[in-house]
Amino acid sequence: GKGAAMVTAVAYRLAEQSHQIAQILSEFHLTREQLLEVKKRMRIEIEKGLSKSTQDSATVKMLPTFVRSTPDGTESGDFLALDLGGTNFRVLLVKIRSGKRRSVEMQNKIYAIPLEVMQGTGEELFDHIVHCISDFLDYMGMKNARLPLGFTFSFPCLQTSLDAGILVTWTKGFKATDCEGEDVVGLLREAIKRREEFDLDVVAIVNDTVGTMMTCAYEEPTCEVGLIAGTGSNACYMEEMRNIEMVEGDEGRMCVNMEWGAFGDNGCLDEIRTEYDHAVDDLSLNPGKQRYEKMCSGMYLGEIVRNILIDMTKRGFLFRGQISETLKTRGIFETKFLSQIESDRLALLQVRAILQHLGLDSTCDDSIIVKEVCGTVSRRAAQLCGAGMAAVVDKIRENRGLDHLNVTVAVDGTLYKLHPHFSLIMHQTVAELAPQCTVNFLLSEDGSGKGAALITAVGCRLRK
Ligand code: GLC
Repeated sequence: GKGAAMVTAVAYRLAEQSHQIAQILSEFHLTREQLLEVKKRMRIEIEKGLSKSTQDSATVKMLPTFVRSTPDGTESGDFLALDLGGTNFRVLLVKIRSGKRRSVEMQNKIYAIPLEVMQGTGEELFDHIVHCISDFLDYMGMKNARLPLGFTFSFPCLQTSLDAGILVTWTKGFKATDCEGEDVVGLLREAIKRREEFDLDVVAIVNDTVGTMMTCAYEEPTCEVGLIAGTGSNACYMEEMRNIEMVEGDEGRMCVNMEWGAFGDNGCLDEIRTEYDHAVDDLSLNPGKQRYEKMCSGMYLGEIVRNILIDMTKRGFLFRGQISETLKTRGIFETKFLSQIESDRLALLQVRAILQHLGLDSTCDDSIIVKEVCGTVSRRAAQLCGAGMAAVVDKIRENRGLDHLNVTVAVDGTLYKLHPHFSLIMHQTVAELAPQCTVNFLLSEDGSGKGAALITAVGCRLRK
């Protein structure tokens, strides 16, 4: 009868709908072959970044850091550190003690950087930074100590020494004017002078990946790689000097800041980029740039999810076909929310509560779909990051002419630390794609602060 026909129609519509949802998400599923191809292409870009003849046009810049050795335990002293470019801006006091009772103690304060300052003028940004340092020194009662300072500045910098770095381009959420092409240490020193309140000795500029690696290497000598899976995505590792054509000399090794976030900017990932990746890129502060980072890092995963949800809603699969103002709001799905939504310990009702908290009215079916979307997007991110890392560890292995390499990777970043599945999937991918390497991942607690201080300590020692 009529009832049965209606039931059949509804069943048919639902089947069709779930088929289409599966279709949308299938674009995010990468085969082993595709991941091996990503690994291979990363390797090609690594070589381009290292060679003098191709460095200029290379997307993965492979920037020398002038960090030539990992710490040896003899570092000591009191240092200031700045950490700019992650989720928070922080000023830190780090006390390193060497010898039998070697230890690192830290005190730090978090400061907000208002959006207008992140995207205002360079002078305003650096004045704000120095204002925060001033507040911190007051707070610690140390205005008169002329401490050596290590500046963790988590953006691509062309370094010519440990204490000079020209900002190549802003990435992530920053866009202050008059900084690109300038020496960031110079900008900081000028801002300190302008304030006429205290003096500091800026010894080192440090990428967060490098700080992360150095912090772990202090405890674990096999640590020769640093990885950040956070707001941004990037890695560094100890490369042979003979392969770094941009730096004079062939002896020993130097840490290279890969800036792998820009992988794909020459189009080499286009086959696997989806329309949602394009949408996220188009709406970003830096369209066309940092394409790999936009598929792998915390600042963008939520945006990919949001764009998929908008499309599914338009097609009537979600939220009763109603695109709310919330769903149109950029940045609503922060890493911490994605992590909660994907947590296995949460019941669907709790997923709905999170969506509700974000301002999204969902049905039970909606919440199932949203969770699946989040899972699909973060799985791809972890796999892509793993494919990149597989290229790095295999490169190190080949550098040393080994059939097998044991190596430790220091990792930090909100995505790695907060997300319930990212780390496991990334580890599995590396194991699958680089079977000749045994890779041990070590969480680096507070690498940007500790690491900057360790590098500063080495810098001070070498200067004497
Ligand atoms: C961005 C920056 C890079 C940094 C990474 C992680 O990719 O360009 O320098 O290491 O974010 O914070």
